[in-house]
Amino acid sequence: MPFNSIFRENLFEDQVMVVSGGGTGIGRAIARELAGLGAMVVIASRAAEHLEPTRAEIAAAGGKVAAFPLNIRDEENVKATLKRVVSEFGRIDGLVNNAGGQFNAPASAISAKGWHAVVETNLTGTFYMARAAYECWMREHGGAIVNIVAEMWRGFPNMSHTGAARAGVVNLTQTLALEWAEHGIRINSIAPGLIDSSGLKTYPAVIQDRIASMAAEIPAQRMGTESEVSAATIFMLSPAAAFISGTTLRVDGAGSLYRLQGFTIPDHEPWPVYELDED
Ligand code: ADE
Repeated sequence: MPFNSIFRENLFEDQVMVVSGGGTGIGRAIARELAGLGAMVVIASRAAEHLEPTRAEIAAAGGKVAAFPLNIRDEENVKATLKRVVSEFGRIDGLVNNAGGQFNAPASAISAKGWHAVVETNLTGTFYMARAAYECWMREHGGAIVNIVAEMWRGFPNMSHTGAARAGVVNLTQTLALEWAEHGIRINSIAPGLIDSSGLKTYPAVIQDRIASMAAEIPAQRMGTESEVSAATIFMLSPAAAFISGTTLRVDGAGSLYRLQGFTIPDHEPWPVYELDED
């Protein structure tokens, strides 16, 4: 497999991993790296047009991959999809809840419909996925779940819906880590900060510019990479994280810690980048 990783070869041999939103951006990076490490990877998304190119590139590289259509907001669809994974591939060792979505708007302008849509996708959809994985495989066999959330620790202006939903996922992560510990299930979250991912390119140019200028306010003095989020996710799925559950790991260049409290980080060289070559 040509996909690069800092982790050891065949780390996930004979394991089945489900990555929601695995067709694009951070989800694609995670799917590629998992496949490169020997996993059978099921990428699942509502947008079929996002799935096929990623399925094809992983398959062409010799990876084990399947692409399933999935609407995480539809509980019956979620249950049927994860059952299908077990019936076709025999197990679910890891679940990465990466699918999500939001739109930029001040709280005063978000309709009830828009609010519910974002909360259903990011919070309820994550709950449906985790519980379906629990019911159809992990209750009996254990497993690892990783939820991809967002940097919302100091509030999330113009993103109140997703900030609230992601904060909900952080707490859900803690609760499920306790409720499902007896089943050998570990569940953790990853909170990416400002990441230079294809997801950013879906925002209007003016917002993209604003986001790019925010990189100067991150102690690392740069945006993060998809590879850096993928590495943290792979770590959480791996046996190296065997004693870690209920946590949320910030992958944000210390951006969530930084405020002007009479302390300014001097201008410095941006931190060295960790980024996998595409081939
Ligand atoms: N990506 C964004 N929204 C989604 C949804 N409802 N289901 C699956 N993937 C998604």
